[in-house]
Amino acid sequence: MMTTAPPTSMAISARGVEKAYVTGDTKVTALRGANLEVKPGEIVMLVGPSGCGKTSLISILAGLLARDGGDLEVFGQDPQALSNEARTTWRREHIGFVFQQFNLIPTLTIAENVAIPLVLHGVSRRDACERAVLALAEVGLEGRQASRPNLLSGGQQQRVAIARALVNEPKLLVCDEPTSALDGQTGQRIMEIVARVGRYGDRAGVVVTHDERIFHLADRIVHMDDGRIDRIGPPPRRNHHD
Ligand SMILES: Nc1ncnc2c1ncn2[C@@H]1O[C@H](COP(=O)(O)OP(=O)(O)OP(=O)(O)O)[C@@H](O)[C@H]1O
Ligand SMILES: [Mg+2]
Repeated sequence: MMTTAPPTSMAISARGVEKAYVTGDTKVTALRGANLEVKPGEIVMLVGPSGCGKTSLISILAGLLARDGGDLEVFGQDPQALSNEARTTWRREHIGFVFQQFNLIPTLTIAENVAIPLVLHGVSRRDACERAVLALAEVGLEGRQASRPNLLSGGQQQRVAIARALVNEPKLLVCDEPTSALDGQTGQRIMEIVARVGRYGDRAGVVVTHDERIFHLADRIVHMDDGRIDRIGPPPRRNHHD
């Protein structure tokens, strides 16, 4: 009989994660033993100075980047233990990623961009496009589905990228500065959509941000410095006068 590893109760369990980038004879150490645990249902915001390793860490969590050391489980799976092909399938099924640069495909309409994860997952084009249009409406882009990304503002492109990350209802949503190109009010609205992931007890979100106006939507604020998790704090109290 096949035995499977006992399921961990954590959405993310990262222990001593290390990463260095080697180019020619220079080596830049990005992560020096980062530890992070995220529970199912949690939204964690990751903050820290430029270059401290935030993008590196979330790319490793999402199975997009290989680590050099340490242990990782994301909903019980170490992405690095999978073959490249199996890891790609795992990512498509379970991970939503909003990149720091939005990574939209310029030759596709925005509805087609949002529909990609569904089509890759075997959903029919027609159903995928219908769901994409709904996801675009959620981020305030109703009626724009036929536009190409280059006709949209930076903030609108960012919202397309968020719709694309959410359309598959991923277990883990990872966002890199999702409100950087948005004005305060839009950023707030979009983060509320992102934070809904936390209402599902079996999903989780990790959001890199410098935007203090959205901190109250987190369950915890994780501070990074120089390749490590420095300290973890509660979110600020919500100001009900806002
Ligand atoms: N592909 C790469 N090749 C070489 N060095 C890299 C690469 N990606 C990142 N680095 C280096 O690794 C360190 C951590 O980078 P990372 O992008 O994880 O930081 P960050 O916290 O996301 O910064 P920012 O807030 O500016 O986005 C930096 O010193 C960076 O220069
Ligand atoms: Mg970054």
